[in-house]
Amino acid sequence: MSNGLIRRAAITAVAHYVPEEVVPNSFFSSYLDTNDEWIRSRTGIRERRILRNGATSDLAVPAINKVLEQRGIVADDIDLIIVATVTPDMMFPCTACVIQEKIGAKKAWGFDLNAACSGFVFALETARRIVESGGANKVLLVGADKMSSITDYQDRNTCILFGDAAGVVLIEPTDDLNTGIIDAILHIDGSGAPHLNMKAGGSLNPPTHETIDKRWHYVFQDGKTVFKSAVVGMADVSAEVVERNKLTGADIAYLVPHQANLRIIDATRERMGISADKVMVNIDKYGNTTAATIPMCLSEWHAAGKLKKGDNLVLSSFGAGYTWGAILLKWAI
Ligand code: UT7
Repeated sequence: MSNGLIRRAAITAVAHYVPEEVVPNSFFSSYLDTNDEWIRSRTGIRERRILRNGATSDLAVPAINKVLEQRGIVADDIDLIIVATVTPDMMFPCTACVIQEKIGAKKAWGFDLNAACSGFVFALETARRIVESGGANKVLLVGADKMSSITDYQDRNTCILFGDAAGVVLIEPTDDLNTGIIDAILHIDGSGAPHLNMKAGGSLNPPTHETIDKRWHYVFQDGKTVFKSAVVGMADVSAEVVERNKLTGADIAYLVPHQANLRIIDATRERMGISADKVMVNIDKYGNTTAATIPMCLSEWHAAGKLKKGDNLVLSSFGAGYTWGAILLKWAI
């Protein structure tokens, strides 16, 4: 398969990790003007998980170890590590390097990819192209975020939304054309930046007492504006990737949406003409874990035995940037 011919890439193992500490909606109503009913009805979230000590790499490593065990390989077998995250352990070195050292993947190269909530989808398309071209045979793709490290727990507009988690997949080449990644539609639109961002800590606004006083080291979101764009963006690309591959909603085993808001997920599935039982939803348990949401869903549904080899899945996301996209794949495990 390394003769230069295009080959297909497939997810061949999947796992996730969530920290133990559960933060229920009632935690926020104990000190902020909010309540369980508002949070559940507006977002679909009941609770989320928080990692009190440790970094994003500490979320990723347990999930990576499960993936290696599942596939029966060792860290030295890995060619490439891609980490989709907006909460790297440090500004640099990249979290891929931190993880490479922690797991001892001596032969791997790697890098981080920042596309916020679309990080996993963008990284999956990147990994697919590298594997298809023969550039790597075993890619560890990590979607992990410690959102609690950039969440303002005094801001009721955002603090109720986010949680910490990691999802990891292994991408490998396959000869089986009834499996693998089929198509991707990805977009960015930088005009969305003012509505969802973290203003400080980068080269534009290095840390100062002023940036801290202004709470610029936390996620800022104009929820209503992002909501409107997310509903249109996610629904459009999800429908388009199905239609341009001459499929209909009836051909899709599962929609695997980014878990930002249950109402955005419902709008997307309605636009695709698929029923609620064919949509992966776990936002109630974990909230929005940014780059981890989609691989976490894949991992949970796979572990529950709900996925069959050859199933058509549509992965779709919308996030800061704006970034959004959809991927059509045939399940390979
Ligand atoms: O993952 C990356 C992409 N992000 C998204 O896709 C998120 C998109 N946005 C959303 O999911 C929703 O906009 C939110 C869940 C963030 C907010 O829901 P909403 O229905 O759009 O509420 P809103 O922002 O329009 O606020 C409605 C009201 C406001 O009060 P007033 O101005 O009407 O008096 C808010 O201040 O609800 C208030 N509010 C809250 N009330 C109780 C905002 N947050 C809360 C809260 N508890 N936690």
